[in-house]
Amino acid sequence: MNKKKIEAEYKKKIKKINNLNFFYYDQSNPLVTDDEYDKLKNEILLLEANNDFLKSEISPSQTIGHKPSKNFSKITHRAPMLSLANAFTKDDLINFEKKIFNFLSVESNFKINYSAEPKIDGISASLIYKNGELKKGLSRGDGKQGEDITENLKTIKNIPKRINSKDFPKDIDIRGEVFIQNSDFKNLKEKFANPRNAASGSLRQKDPKDTKKIPLKFIAYTFGFEKDLCVNNQFDFLKKLNQWGFKTNPLNKLISGVDNLIENYNKVEKDRANLNFDIDGIVYKINDFALQKRLGNVANAPRWAIAHKFSSNKAISKILDIDIQIGRTGALTPVAKIKPVNIGGVLVSNATLHNEEEIKRKDIRIGDTVTVERAGDVIPHILEVDLKKRIKDSSKFIFPNSCPFCGSKTVKDFNLSTKKLDAVRRCSSQDYFCEKISIEKLKHFVSKEAFNIDGLGKKIIENFWRLKLIKYPHDIFRLDYDKIETLEGWGKLSVENLKYSINEKKKVSLDKFIYSMGIRHIGLENAKLISKYFGTFVNFKKLSKKKNYEELLNIDGIGETQVNSIRTFFSNKINIKILEELENLLNITNSQIEKKNGILKNKTFLVTGKLKEISRAEIKSLIEANSGTTVSSVSKKLDFLIIGEKPTNRKVNTAKELNIKIINQDQFLKMLNKI
Ligand code: IVH
Repeated sequence: MNKKKIEAEYKKKIKKINNLNFFYYDQSNPLVTDDEYDKLKNEILLLEANNDFLKSEISPSQTIGHKPSKNFSKITHRAPMLSLANAFTKDDLINFEKKIFNFLSVESNFKINYSAEPKIDGISASLIYKNGELKKGLSRGDGKQGEDITENLKTIKNIPKRINSKDFPKDIDIRGEVFIQNSDFKNLKEKFANPRNAASGSLRQKDPKDTKKIPLKFIAYTFGFEKDLCVNNQFDFLKKLNQWGFKTNPLNKLISGVDNLIENYNKVEKDRANLNFDIDGIVYKINDFALQKRLGNVANAPRWAIAHKFSSNKAISKILDIDIQIGRTGALTPVAKIKPVNIGGVLVSNATLHNEEEIKRKDIRIGDTVTVERAGDVIPHILEVDLKKRIKDSSKFIFPNSCPFCGSKTVKDFNLSTKKLDAVRRCSSQDYFCEKISIEKLKHFVSKEAFNIDGLGKKIIENFWRLKLIKYPHDIFRLDYDKIETLEGWGKLSVENLKYSINEKKKVSLDKFIYSMGIRHIGLENAKLISKYFGTFVNFKKLSKKKNYEELLNIDGIGETQVNSIRTFFSNKINIKILEELENLLNITNSQIEKKNGILKNKTFLVTGKLKEISRAEIKSLIEANSGTTVSSVSKKLDFLIIGEKPTNRKVNTAKELNIKIINQDQFLKMLNKI
């Protein structure tokens, strides 16, 4: 058979199996017997094994196990479910601790106790208990909103349905990990690639009876919302969890000092293979809740915790080709297409090469035999080249000087903070000129942390683009649904679903909106700062009329790099047009000013000089927690200049000239009734 025919047959089979999946999982109406289904699946896998060129993102080899049903209702978590920053080396841990010392403004001999908890690689869940009764169980979802999977979670024996202990809080979210033990996974090996997939697939089954068939376990480790929790540190909380009837990890330890953390890490890693559950690292949490509270969060992760990941899985493979991919900001990322290898239960066929410098430094060439590493959820990368196996006539890889997609020149930017040229090369075209960048921008626009539109995955965006159904973000809200219904793979039901999920997202908060614009250097955290500063979409849009963007430097956290990027964004007519179109189509809600009625409401602050036993970062979060704002320069907008030791004279003098109140640290703390 020739290539084309094989491909056509393959596509037909993929389409068929996905149709069977739809009827089985979404409609609960299987069209064929299990045997027939397995036969078809094996035929697909065999075709892939024998023909390197066959590839499909919706092949059963990629969408391992059960396709979960999408019909769960969404519920907002009462406290967001955060993620964790990663550490890989001792230096990462030292750095983590150093940042904490700085924030708390303590000396480096300050002793911090950590709760060290082996990180089970499963699926997190949040259980809502009211008056001791399990009321609801949610999946993590995007961290803000989860899915209501109560009935499925209730099938898990380890999850108490009723707790009678007197000291169990009246209202609390208990959080932990749902997983499958390795001994139980043995019987499921045929269906799933690894225990994590098995847990996730079975947890999201439509029928709880299907979930019940799988021996899921639950280990508790934290809480979300709580009322009247009677403990003040994590380790006591873990003990309490046990008393209340939850399972906790038997390997949890209370440890202080980086050296001791490493010793424990090495011990656990050695024993890892003998455990009956998969762990991918150790989570360290500052034990004292009062310190946790002071430290607070950055973006989506707490400052007081980190995940120390185990060294990854490695495999040897061969570089078949080097592709250049482009991101939404125009960054060109080289990607090695490698001969597919199984690394820790996942079939890897791509490895990132990071940037031009990395290729040069490691002299990576097409045809090389390489060691590929995959650590947890991090994208696989090339560790080293086996030079002994290099083919004789191989040549150095030359990074393109012009964008492979639109032909514009590629450039390296000058980084204002490092005062060096970036390692990353970019396409220098303006927004929406390079088609590939536009597609990436659209993918970003609908992504989880931006508009979060269900059912508009990356492949669909690409497809709609190719069919000229979308070009700019606003086109998403004006889709030609009649046309989509006639497309291959689409039907009445799926179009209705898509329409529903798009319309559902027409109401959007200003910070999400700003983030979704994909302005370079404006991530979630900066988008929040900007949205808080402007308050309304109308105010934000006024930037397009301004000649001077310096005012943005008043926002604490926004620097010259961000300001330049915002200026570039507003200088492009297409971006202005997009803003106008979206303004008409959407309901962009004003920035919510949290805790409106704190003591420092409507007051602005600036600190100059060194303070006693409190860091700049902490004073900033203290001000914000009490509804005040911090600014980064002395201007008429400033209400209070807080001075510490060795203040900057220029700031003090300007403040005097402008009649701004100058206070010291004690006076400030008095405002908060702290002393
Ligand atoms: S605490 C503090 N504790 O790791 C907010 N998470 O990357 C984070 N995980 O989604 C949750 N074991 O699925 C926490 N002992 C543990 C954990 C743990 C595993 C997972 C959890 C979370 C992810 C964060």
